[in-house]
Amino acid sequence: MLMFEKKLAKEPVDIKDGIYYFDAHNHGDFFDEEDAAEWDNGRLESNWKKRKFLENPTTKKLAETIVANGKEIIDLACGPGMGLIPSVKQLDPAFHCTASDASAMVLEHWKKYLDWNFMTHGVEFAQFSVLDMPFKDGSVPSFSSNIGLSSVRGGQVDYDKAVKEVFRCLEPGGYLYAVESEWIDIPAILQVFEKWGQEPWNCFTEGQTSWHDRFLQAGFEIVTEEEVQHRIFTAEDNELGEASVKFGIPVGTKETAFVLRRL
Ligand SMILES: C[S@@+](CC[C@H](N)C(=O)[O-])C[C@H]1O[C@@H](n2cnc3c(N)ncnc32)[C@H](O)[C@@H]1O
Repeated sequence: MLMFEKKLAKEPVDIKDGIYYFDAHNHGDFFDEEDAAEWDNGRLESNWKKRKFLENPTTKKLAETIVANGKEIIDLACGPGMGLIPSVKQLDPAFHCTASDASAMVLEHWKKYLDWNFMTHGVEFAQFSVLDMPFKDGSVPSFSSNIGLSSVRGGQVDYDKAVKEVFRCLEPGGYLYAVESEWIDIPAILQVFEKWGQEPWNCFTEGQTSWHDRFLQAGFEIVTEEEVQHRIFTAEDNELGEASVKFGIPVGTKETAFVLRRL
């Protein structure tokens, strides 16, 4: 029996080659054969071996905290980057992890890569959407996410929904370890659009909630919160970057690492 199996509230629609499928394909990214060829030709390998998170003091601390707390993790929307799993496995190869994503394709390629290259990798696989997880209420000891919650597609409404869903599934005292990204200063961005004479893009017109406030509103205790990095857009990034440089109003995004606890 897989580690996460006893926590399930729903039957999988299929179990194939050790991957549990919960029919979430419409929620995820639509990858194609070209993406898969790139993954198989080195991208998954370099992501598995990447040291990026362990070289950054903030994400290193996050991975160390996961290992120190000793509770298996289910990584959300792991994507071709595999979320926080490669870093945790570099610290403790025996640490038990489940990789999840709405895209079956990304999980199938990850499983093939790990099965071929490592006899025992200790990673389980489940295809489901963060917006509708197959777990019983209060059953999961910990989740991790590297830009996983930030990847859901429906904007602020779905960010809220994803955080509530994580909270529902976590056991009391359970943890969410997350690195999430957001825009730094929406009023500044709206000022750029005004000077530019353009209607703001839809993602900037809906009411915005920071990850910090969203986690608190869902009922989480914020154990730690630390900026990982921020990036100011340049003219080379996109039209918004170009306009922001032209009008001298910096715009950008930041990534923050959180340790969150369900009370
Ligand atoms: C850019 S990746 C996320 C970053 C990744 N965790 C990493 O460490 O590099 C985006 C992934 O989010 C997944 N995704 C998008 N919406 C989702 C959802 N509602 N539930 C689960 N996965 C989702 C996509 O299928 C895709 O694989």
